[in-house]
Amino acid sequence: MARAIDLAAGGLGTTSPNPVVGCVILDPDGVVVGEGFHAYAGGPHAEVRALAAAGERARGGTAVVTLEPCDHTGRTGPCTQALISAGVVRVVAAVPDPDPVGGGGAHTLRAAGVEVTLGIGQAQAYAGNVAWLTATQRAATGDPRPYLIWKFASTLDGRSAAADGTSQWISSPEARADVQELRSTVDAIIVGVGTVLADDPHLTARTDAGALANRQPLRVIVDSAGRTPADARVRDGAARTWIATAAEVGGGADGRVDLRRLAAGLFDRGCRRVLLEGGPTLAGAFLRAGLVDRVVGYVAPKLLGAGPAALAAAGIVTIAEAIDLELTDVRRVGPDLRIDAAPRGVAPPHVELRDVSSGTART
Ligand SMILES: NC(=O)c1ccc[n+]([C@@H]2O[C@H](COP(=O)([O-])OP(=O)(O)OC[C@H]3O[C@@H](n4cnc5c(N)ncnc54)[C@H](OP(=O)(O)O)[C@@H]3O)[C@@H](O)[C@H]2O)c1
Repeated sequence: MARAIDLAAGGLGTTSPNPVVGCVILDPDGVVVGEGFHAYAGGPHAEVRALAAAGERARGGTAVVTLEPCDHTGRTGPCTQALISAGVVRVVAAVPDPDPVGGGGAHTLRAAGVEVTLGIGQAQAYAGNVAWLTATQRAATGDPRPYLIWKFASTLDGRSAAADGTSQWISSPEARADVQELRSTVDAIIVGVGTVLADDPHLTARTDAGALANRQPLRVIVDSAGRTPADARVRDGAARTWIATAAEVGGGADGRVDLRRLAAGLFDRGCRRVLLEGGPTLAGAFLRAGLVDRVVGYVAPKLLGAGPAALAAAGIVTIAEAIDLELTDVRRVGPDLRIDAAPRGVAPPHVELRDVSSGTART
């Protein structure tokens, strides 16, 4: 399963609106004879790729897969049928599929006499597919929106720019390279029009060599009144761009873009994992709206003493209202510190692990 989870990660950033999935096929002696992952929406699913690699050696064998096999004919056929036709006798899956459309594969497999074990390596597989699982669970409860990561860079004293407004290169080249990697795993990059007016960023994903990556996230400018300049770099042809205005998306009481509707609009556009890159005003508004699932902060060992904070008002006036974060990772990136954290109580609970054959639930 650990290998299948590693394989699944190969699809991060390219499979939406589908999940990332990895699969390993073992022959009857337990020897690995096929591996595969889902690489892009509309392309073959992980199970189908792994079965193709295994060929006849899959007969009588085991499929180890990070997500319950789908039972649904979409752009490709159901994986349950592919596994049954290949003669697989046992399926070990980590996470039950919460999608009301694609789920239910375990039941079909069992009905065909295949032994199915659900829940092996569930926590790790869940973490590897957290964006899709979170977004899918929310959509099933009438709240369709992508998993949102807010990323920022600041000095050790929490400043995002100096007093004169200069902000370039707060973080190190290593941290900036890390951000490029993060961009390559998301479906969209969001900034407010304030950042476009101040910095004129390009908002593209680049390779280590500095070239444009093959696949580019959607660039989203949250711009209530349409102030993005005609010659802004985000308007070039390097990637798709959505300038989301209040007239199009809908405005809140303050006339600014309604961020809940913006998030639903991103879900409709197939986005499941998105990166909010600021600036401080928009980040504060997203946090206030409860739309942030994860925070990634790059903290540079520098002090400024003056200048704007990394986060502007988020509707908090007293310490008891502070947004409480749980640290999920802390590591050095070059000279800087990368801190990953998740606001408590925002993500839906893990899908309940159901035992399809008996109808009982285990967690
Ligand atoms: N250190 C970092 O990580 C980092 C990252 C990004 C930017 N920055 C810095 O941040 C500075 C820009 O700051 P900023 O706060 O003005 O930029 P921003 O957060 O990118 O943009 C703010 C603007 O977003 C628009 N907006 C649209 N809908 C909104 C809503 N619902 N709630 C709040 N805002 C909404 C507002 O303009 P309208 O009302 O006209 O729509 C608002 O003025 C720059 O100096 C940049 O260098 C730093």
